[in-house]
Amino acid sequence: MTTVYLNGQYVPKEQAMIPVEDRGFVFGDGIYEVVRIIKGRVFAWDAHAARLANGLAGLRISDAGAESATLKAVCERLVRDNGMTDGEATVYIQVSRGAAPRTHHFPPAGTPTTVYASASVFKPNFAMRDIGAKGITMPDIRWARCDLKTVNLLGPVLARQAAQEAGAYEALLHRDGMVTEGAATNAFMVVDGVLRTYPLSHYILPGITRALIVEIIREHSIRFEERPVSLTDLHRAEEIFVCGTTTDVQPIVELDGKKVGAGVPGAVTVRIKEAFAKKLYA
Ligand SMILES: Cc1ncc(COP(=O)(O)O)c(C=O)c1O
Repeated sequence: MTTVYLNGQYVPKEQAMIPVEDRGFVFGDGIYEVVRIIKGRVFAWDAHAARLANGLAGLRISDAGAESATLKAVCERLVRDNGMTDGEATVYIQVSRGAAPRTHHFPPAGTPTTVYASASVFKPNFAMRDIGAKGITMPDIRWARCDLKTVNLLGPVLARQAAQEAGAYEALLHRDGMVTEGAATNAFMVVDGVLRTYPLSHYILPGITRALIVEIIREHSIRFEERPVSLTDLHRAEEIFVCGTTTDVQPIVELDGKKVGAGVPGAVTVRIKEAFAKKLYA
C-alpha cells in the first residue's frame, strides 16, 4: 500500500481524492516541485523550497500548508513510511489554488489550497547517462512565464511525445531562433570551445541542477557564458548536455538524426557529469 500526503493527512493513495472543481484540474492553476531523495536525505531542499515559494507568489496562490519546513518533513516521512530510505526516491509536491465553482478570476479569499505529495522509488538510468542519448529540436510553444514551475505542462507534454516518437530522449526547444531549454531539462552546449546556456529569464525554468552545474563550471574554471545559442549553432555544437533533478547530466550525442561532435559524450560534459555525481552522492 502506498501512502501519500493530501492537505495535512497521510492516506493510502487509493483514498486520496480531490474535488472535480479543483483549479489544478480545471485551469492547470497550480505549482509543483520534484525533489530527489537519496537514502532518506532530501537533495538541495532549500533551493527547491525557495523556487516553490517563488512560484506560488508569482501566481498569487497562498502558501498556507506549503511552508518549507512542513513540506520537507512531508517528503522525509513519505519516503520513510513507504520504505524507500535504502535507495533513491523522488517526491512530487503539487499545490493548486484549491477547489471552487468555475470562474477564471480567483476564488473567494480563504479558499483552501490543495497540497498533495507522493513518493516513488527512483532508479537513475546510469547506462544512458554514460552512453549519451538522442535529441530533437522543436519550436518552444510555451507561454512567457516558463520561470514558474506550473502544473500546466502542455508544451513539454507535446514536445516529449514528439521526442518519444522520434526515438529520442529530449526535445530541445527554440524561441525566436534561440535554444531556450529542454522540454523538462535545462540545456548546455559547447560552441567554438565555449560552454553556453540560456541566461535566467522568464523563458526558462531556473533549474536547481543548472545552478549547481554553474557552480561546478566556476570551480573547474571552464570557459562559460550565459548567452543564448542559435538553432544554427546548436546544429554545429561540439557537445550538448541537458540536466535536471531526474536527469542529472545527460549527454546528447545525436541531434535531429546527426552526430553531435564525435557522437560520444564530450570531455567537458563528462567532467561536469562526474563532478555533479560527486555532489549528488556526497
Ligand atoms: C522546463 C524545465 N526546465 C528545467 C528543468 C530542470 O530543473 P531542475 O534541475 O530544478 O529539476 C525542469 C525540470 O522539471 C523543467 O521542467
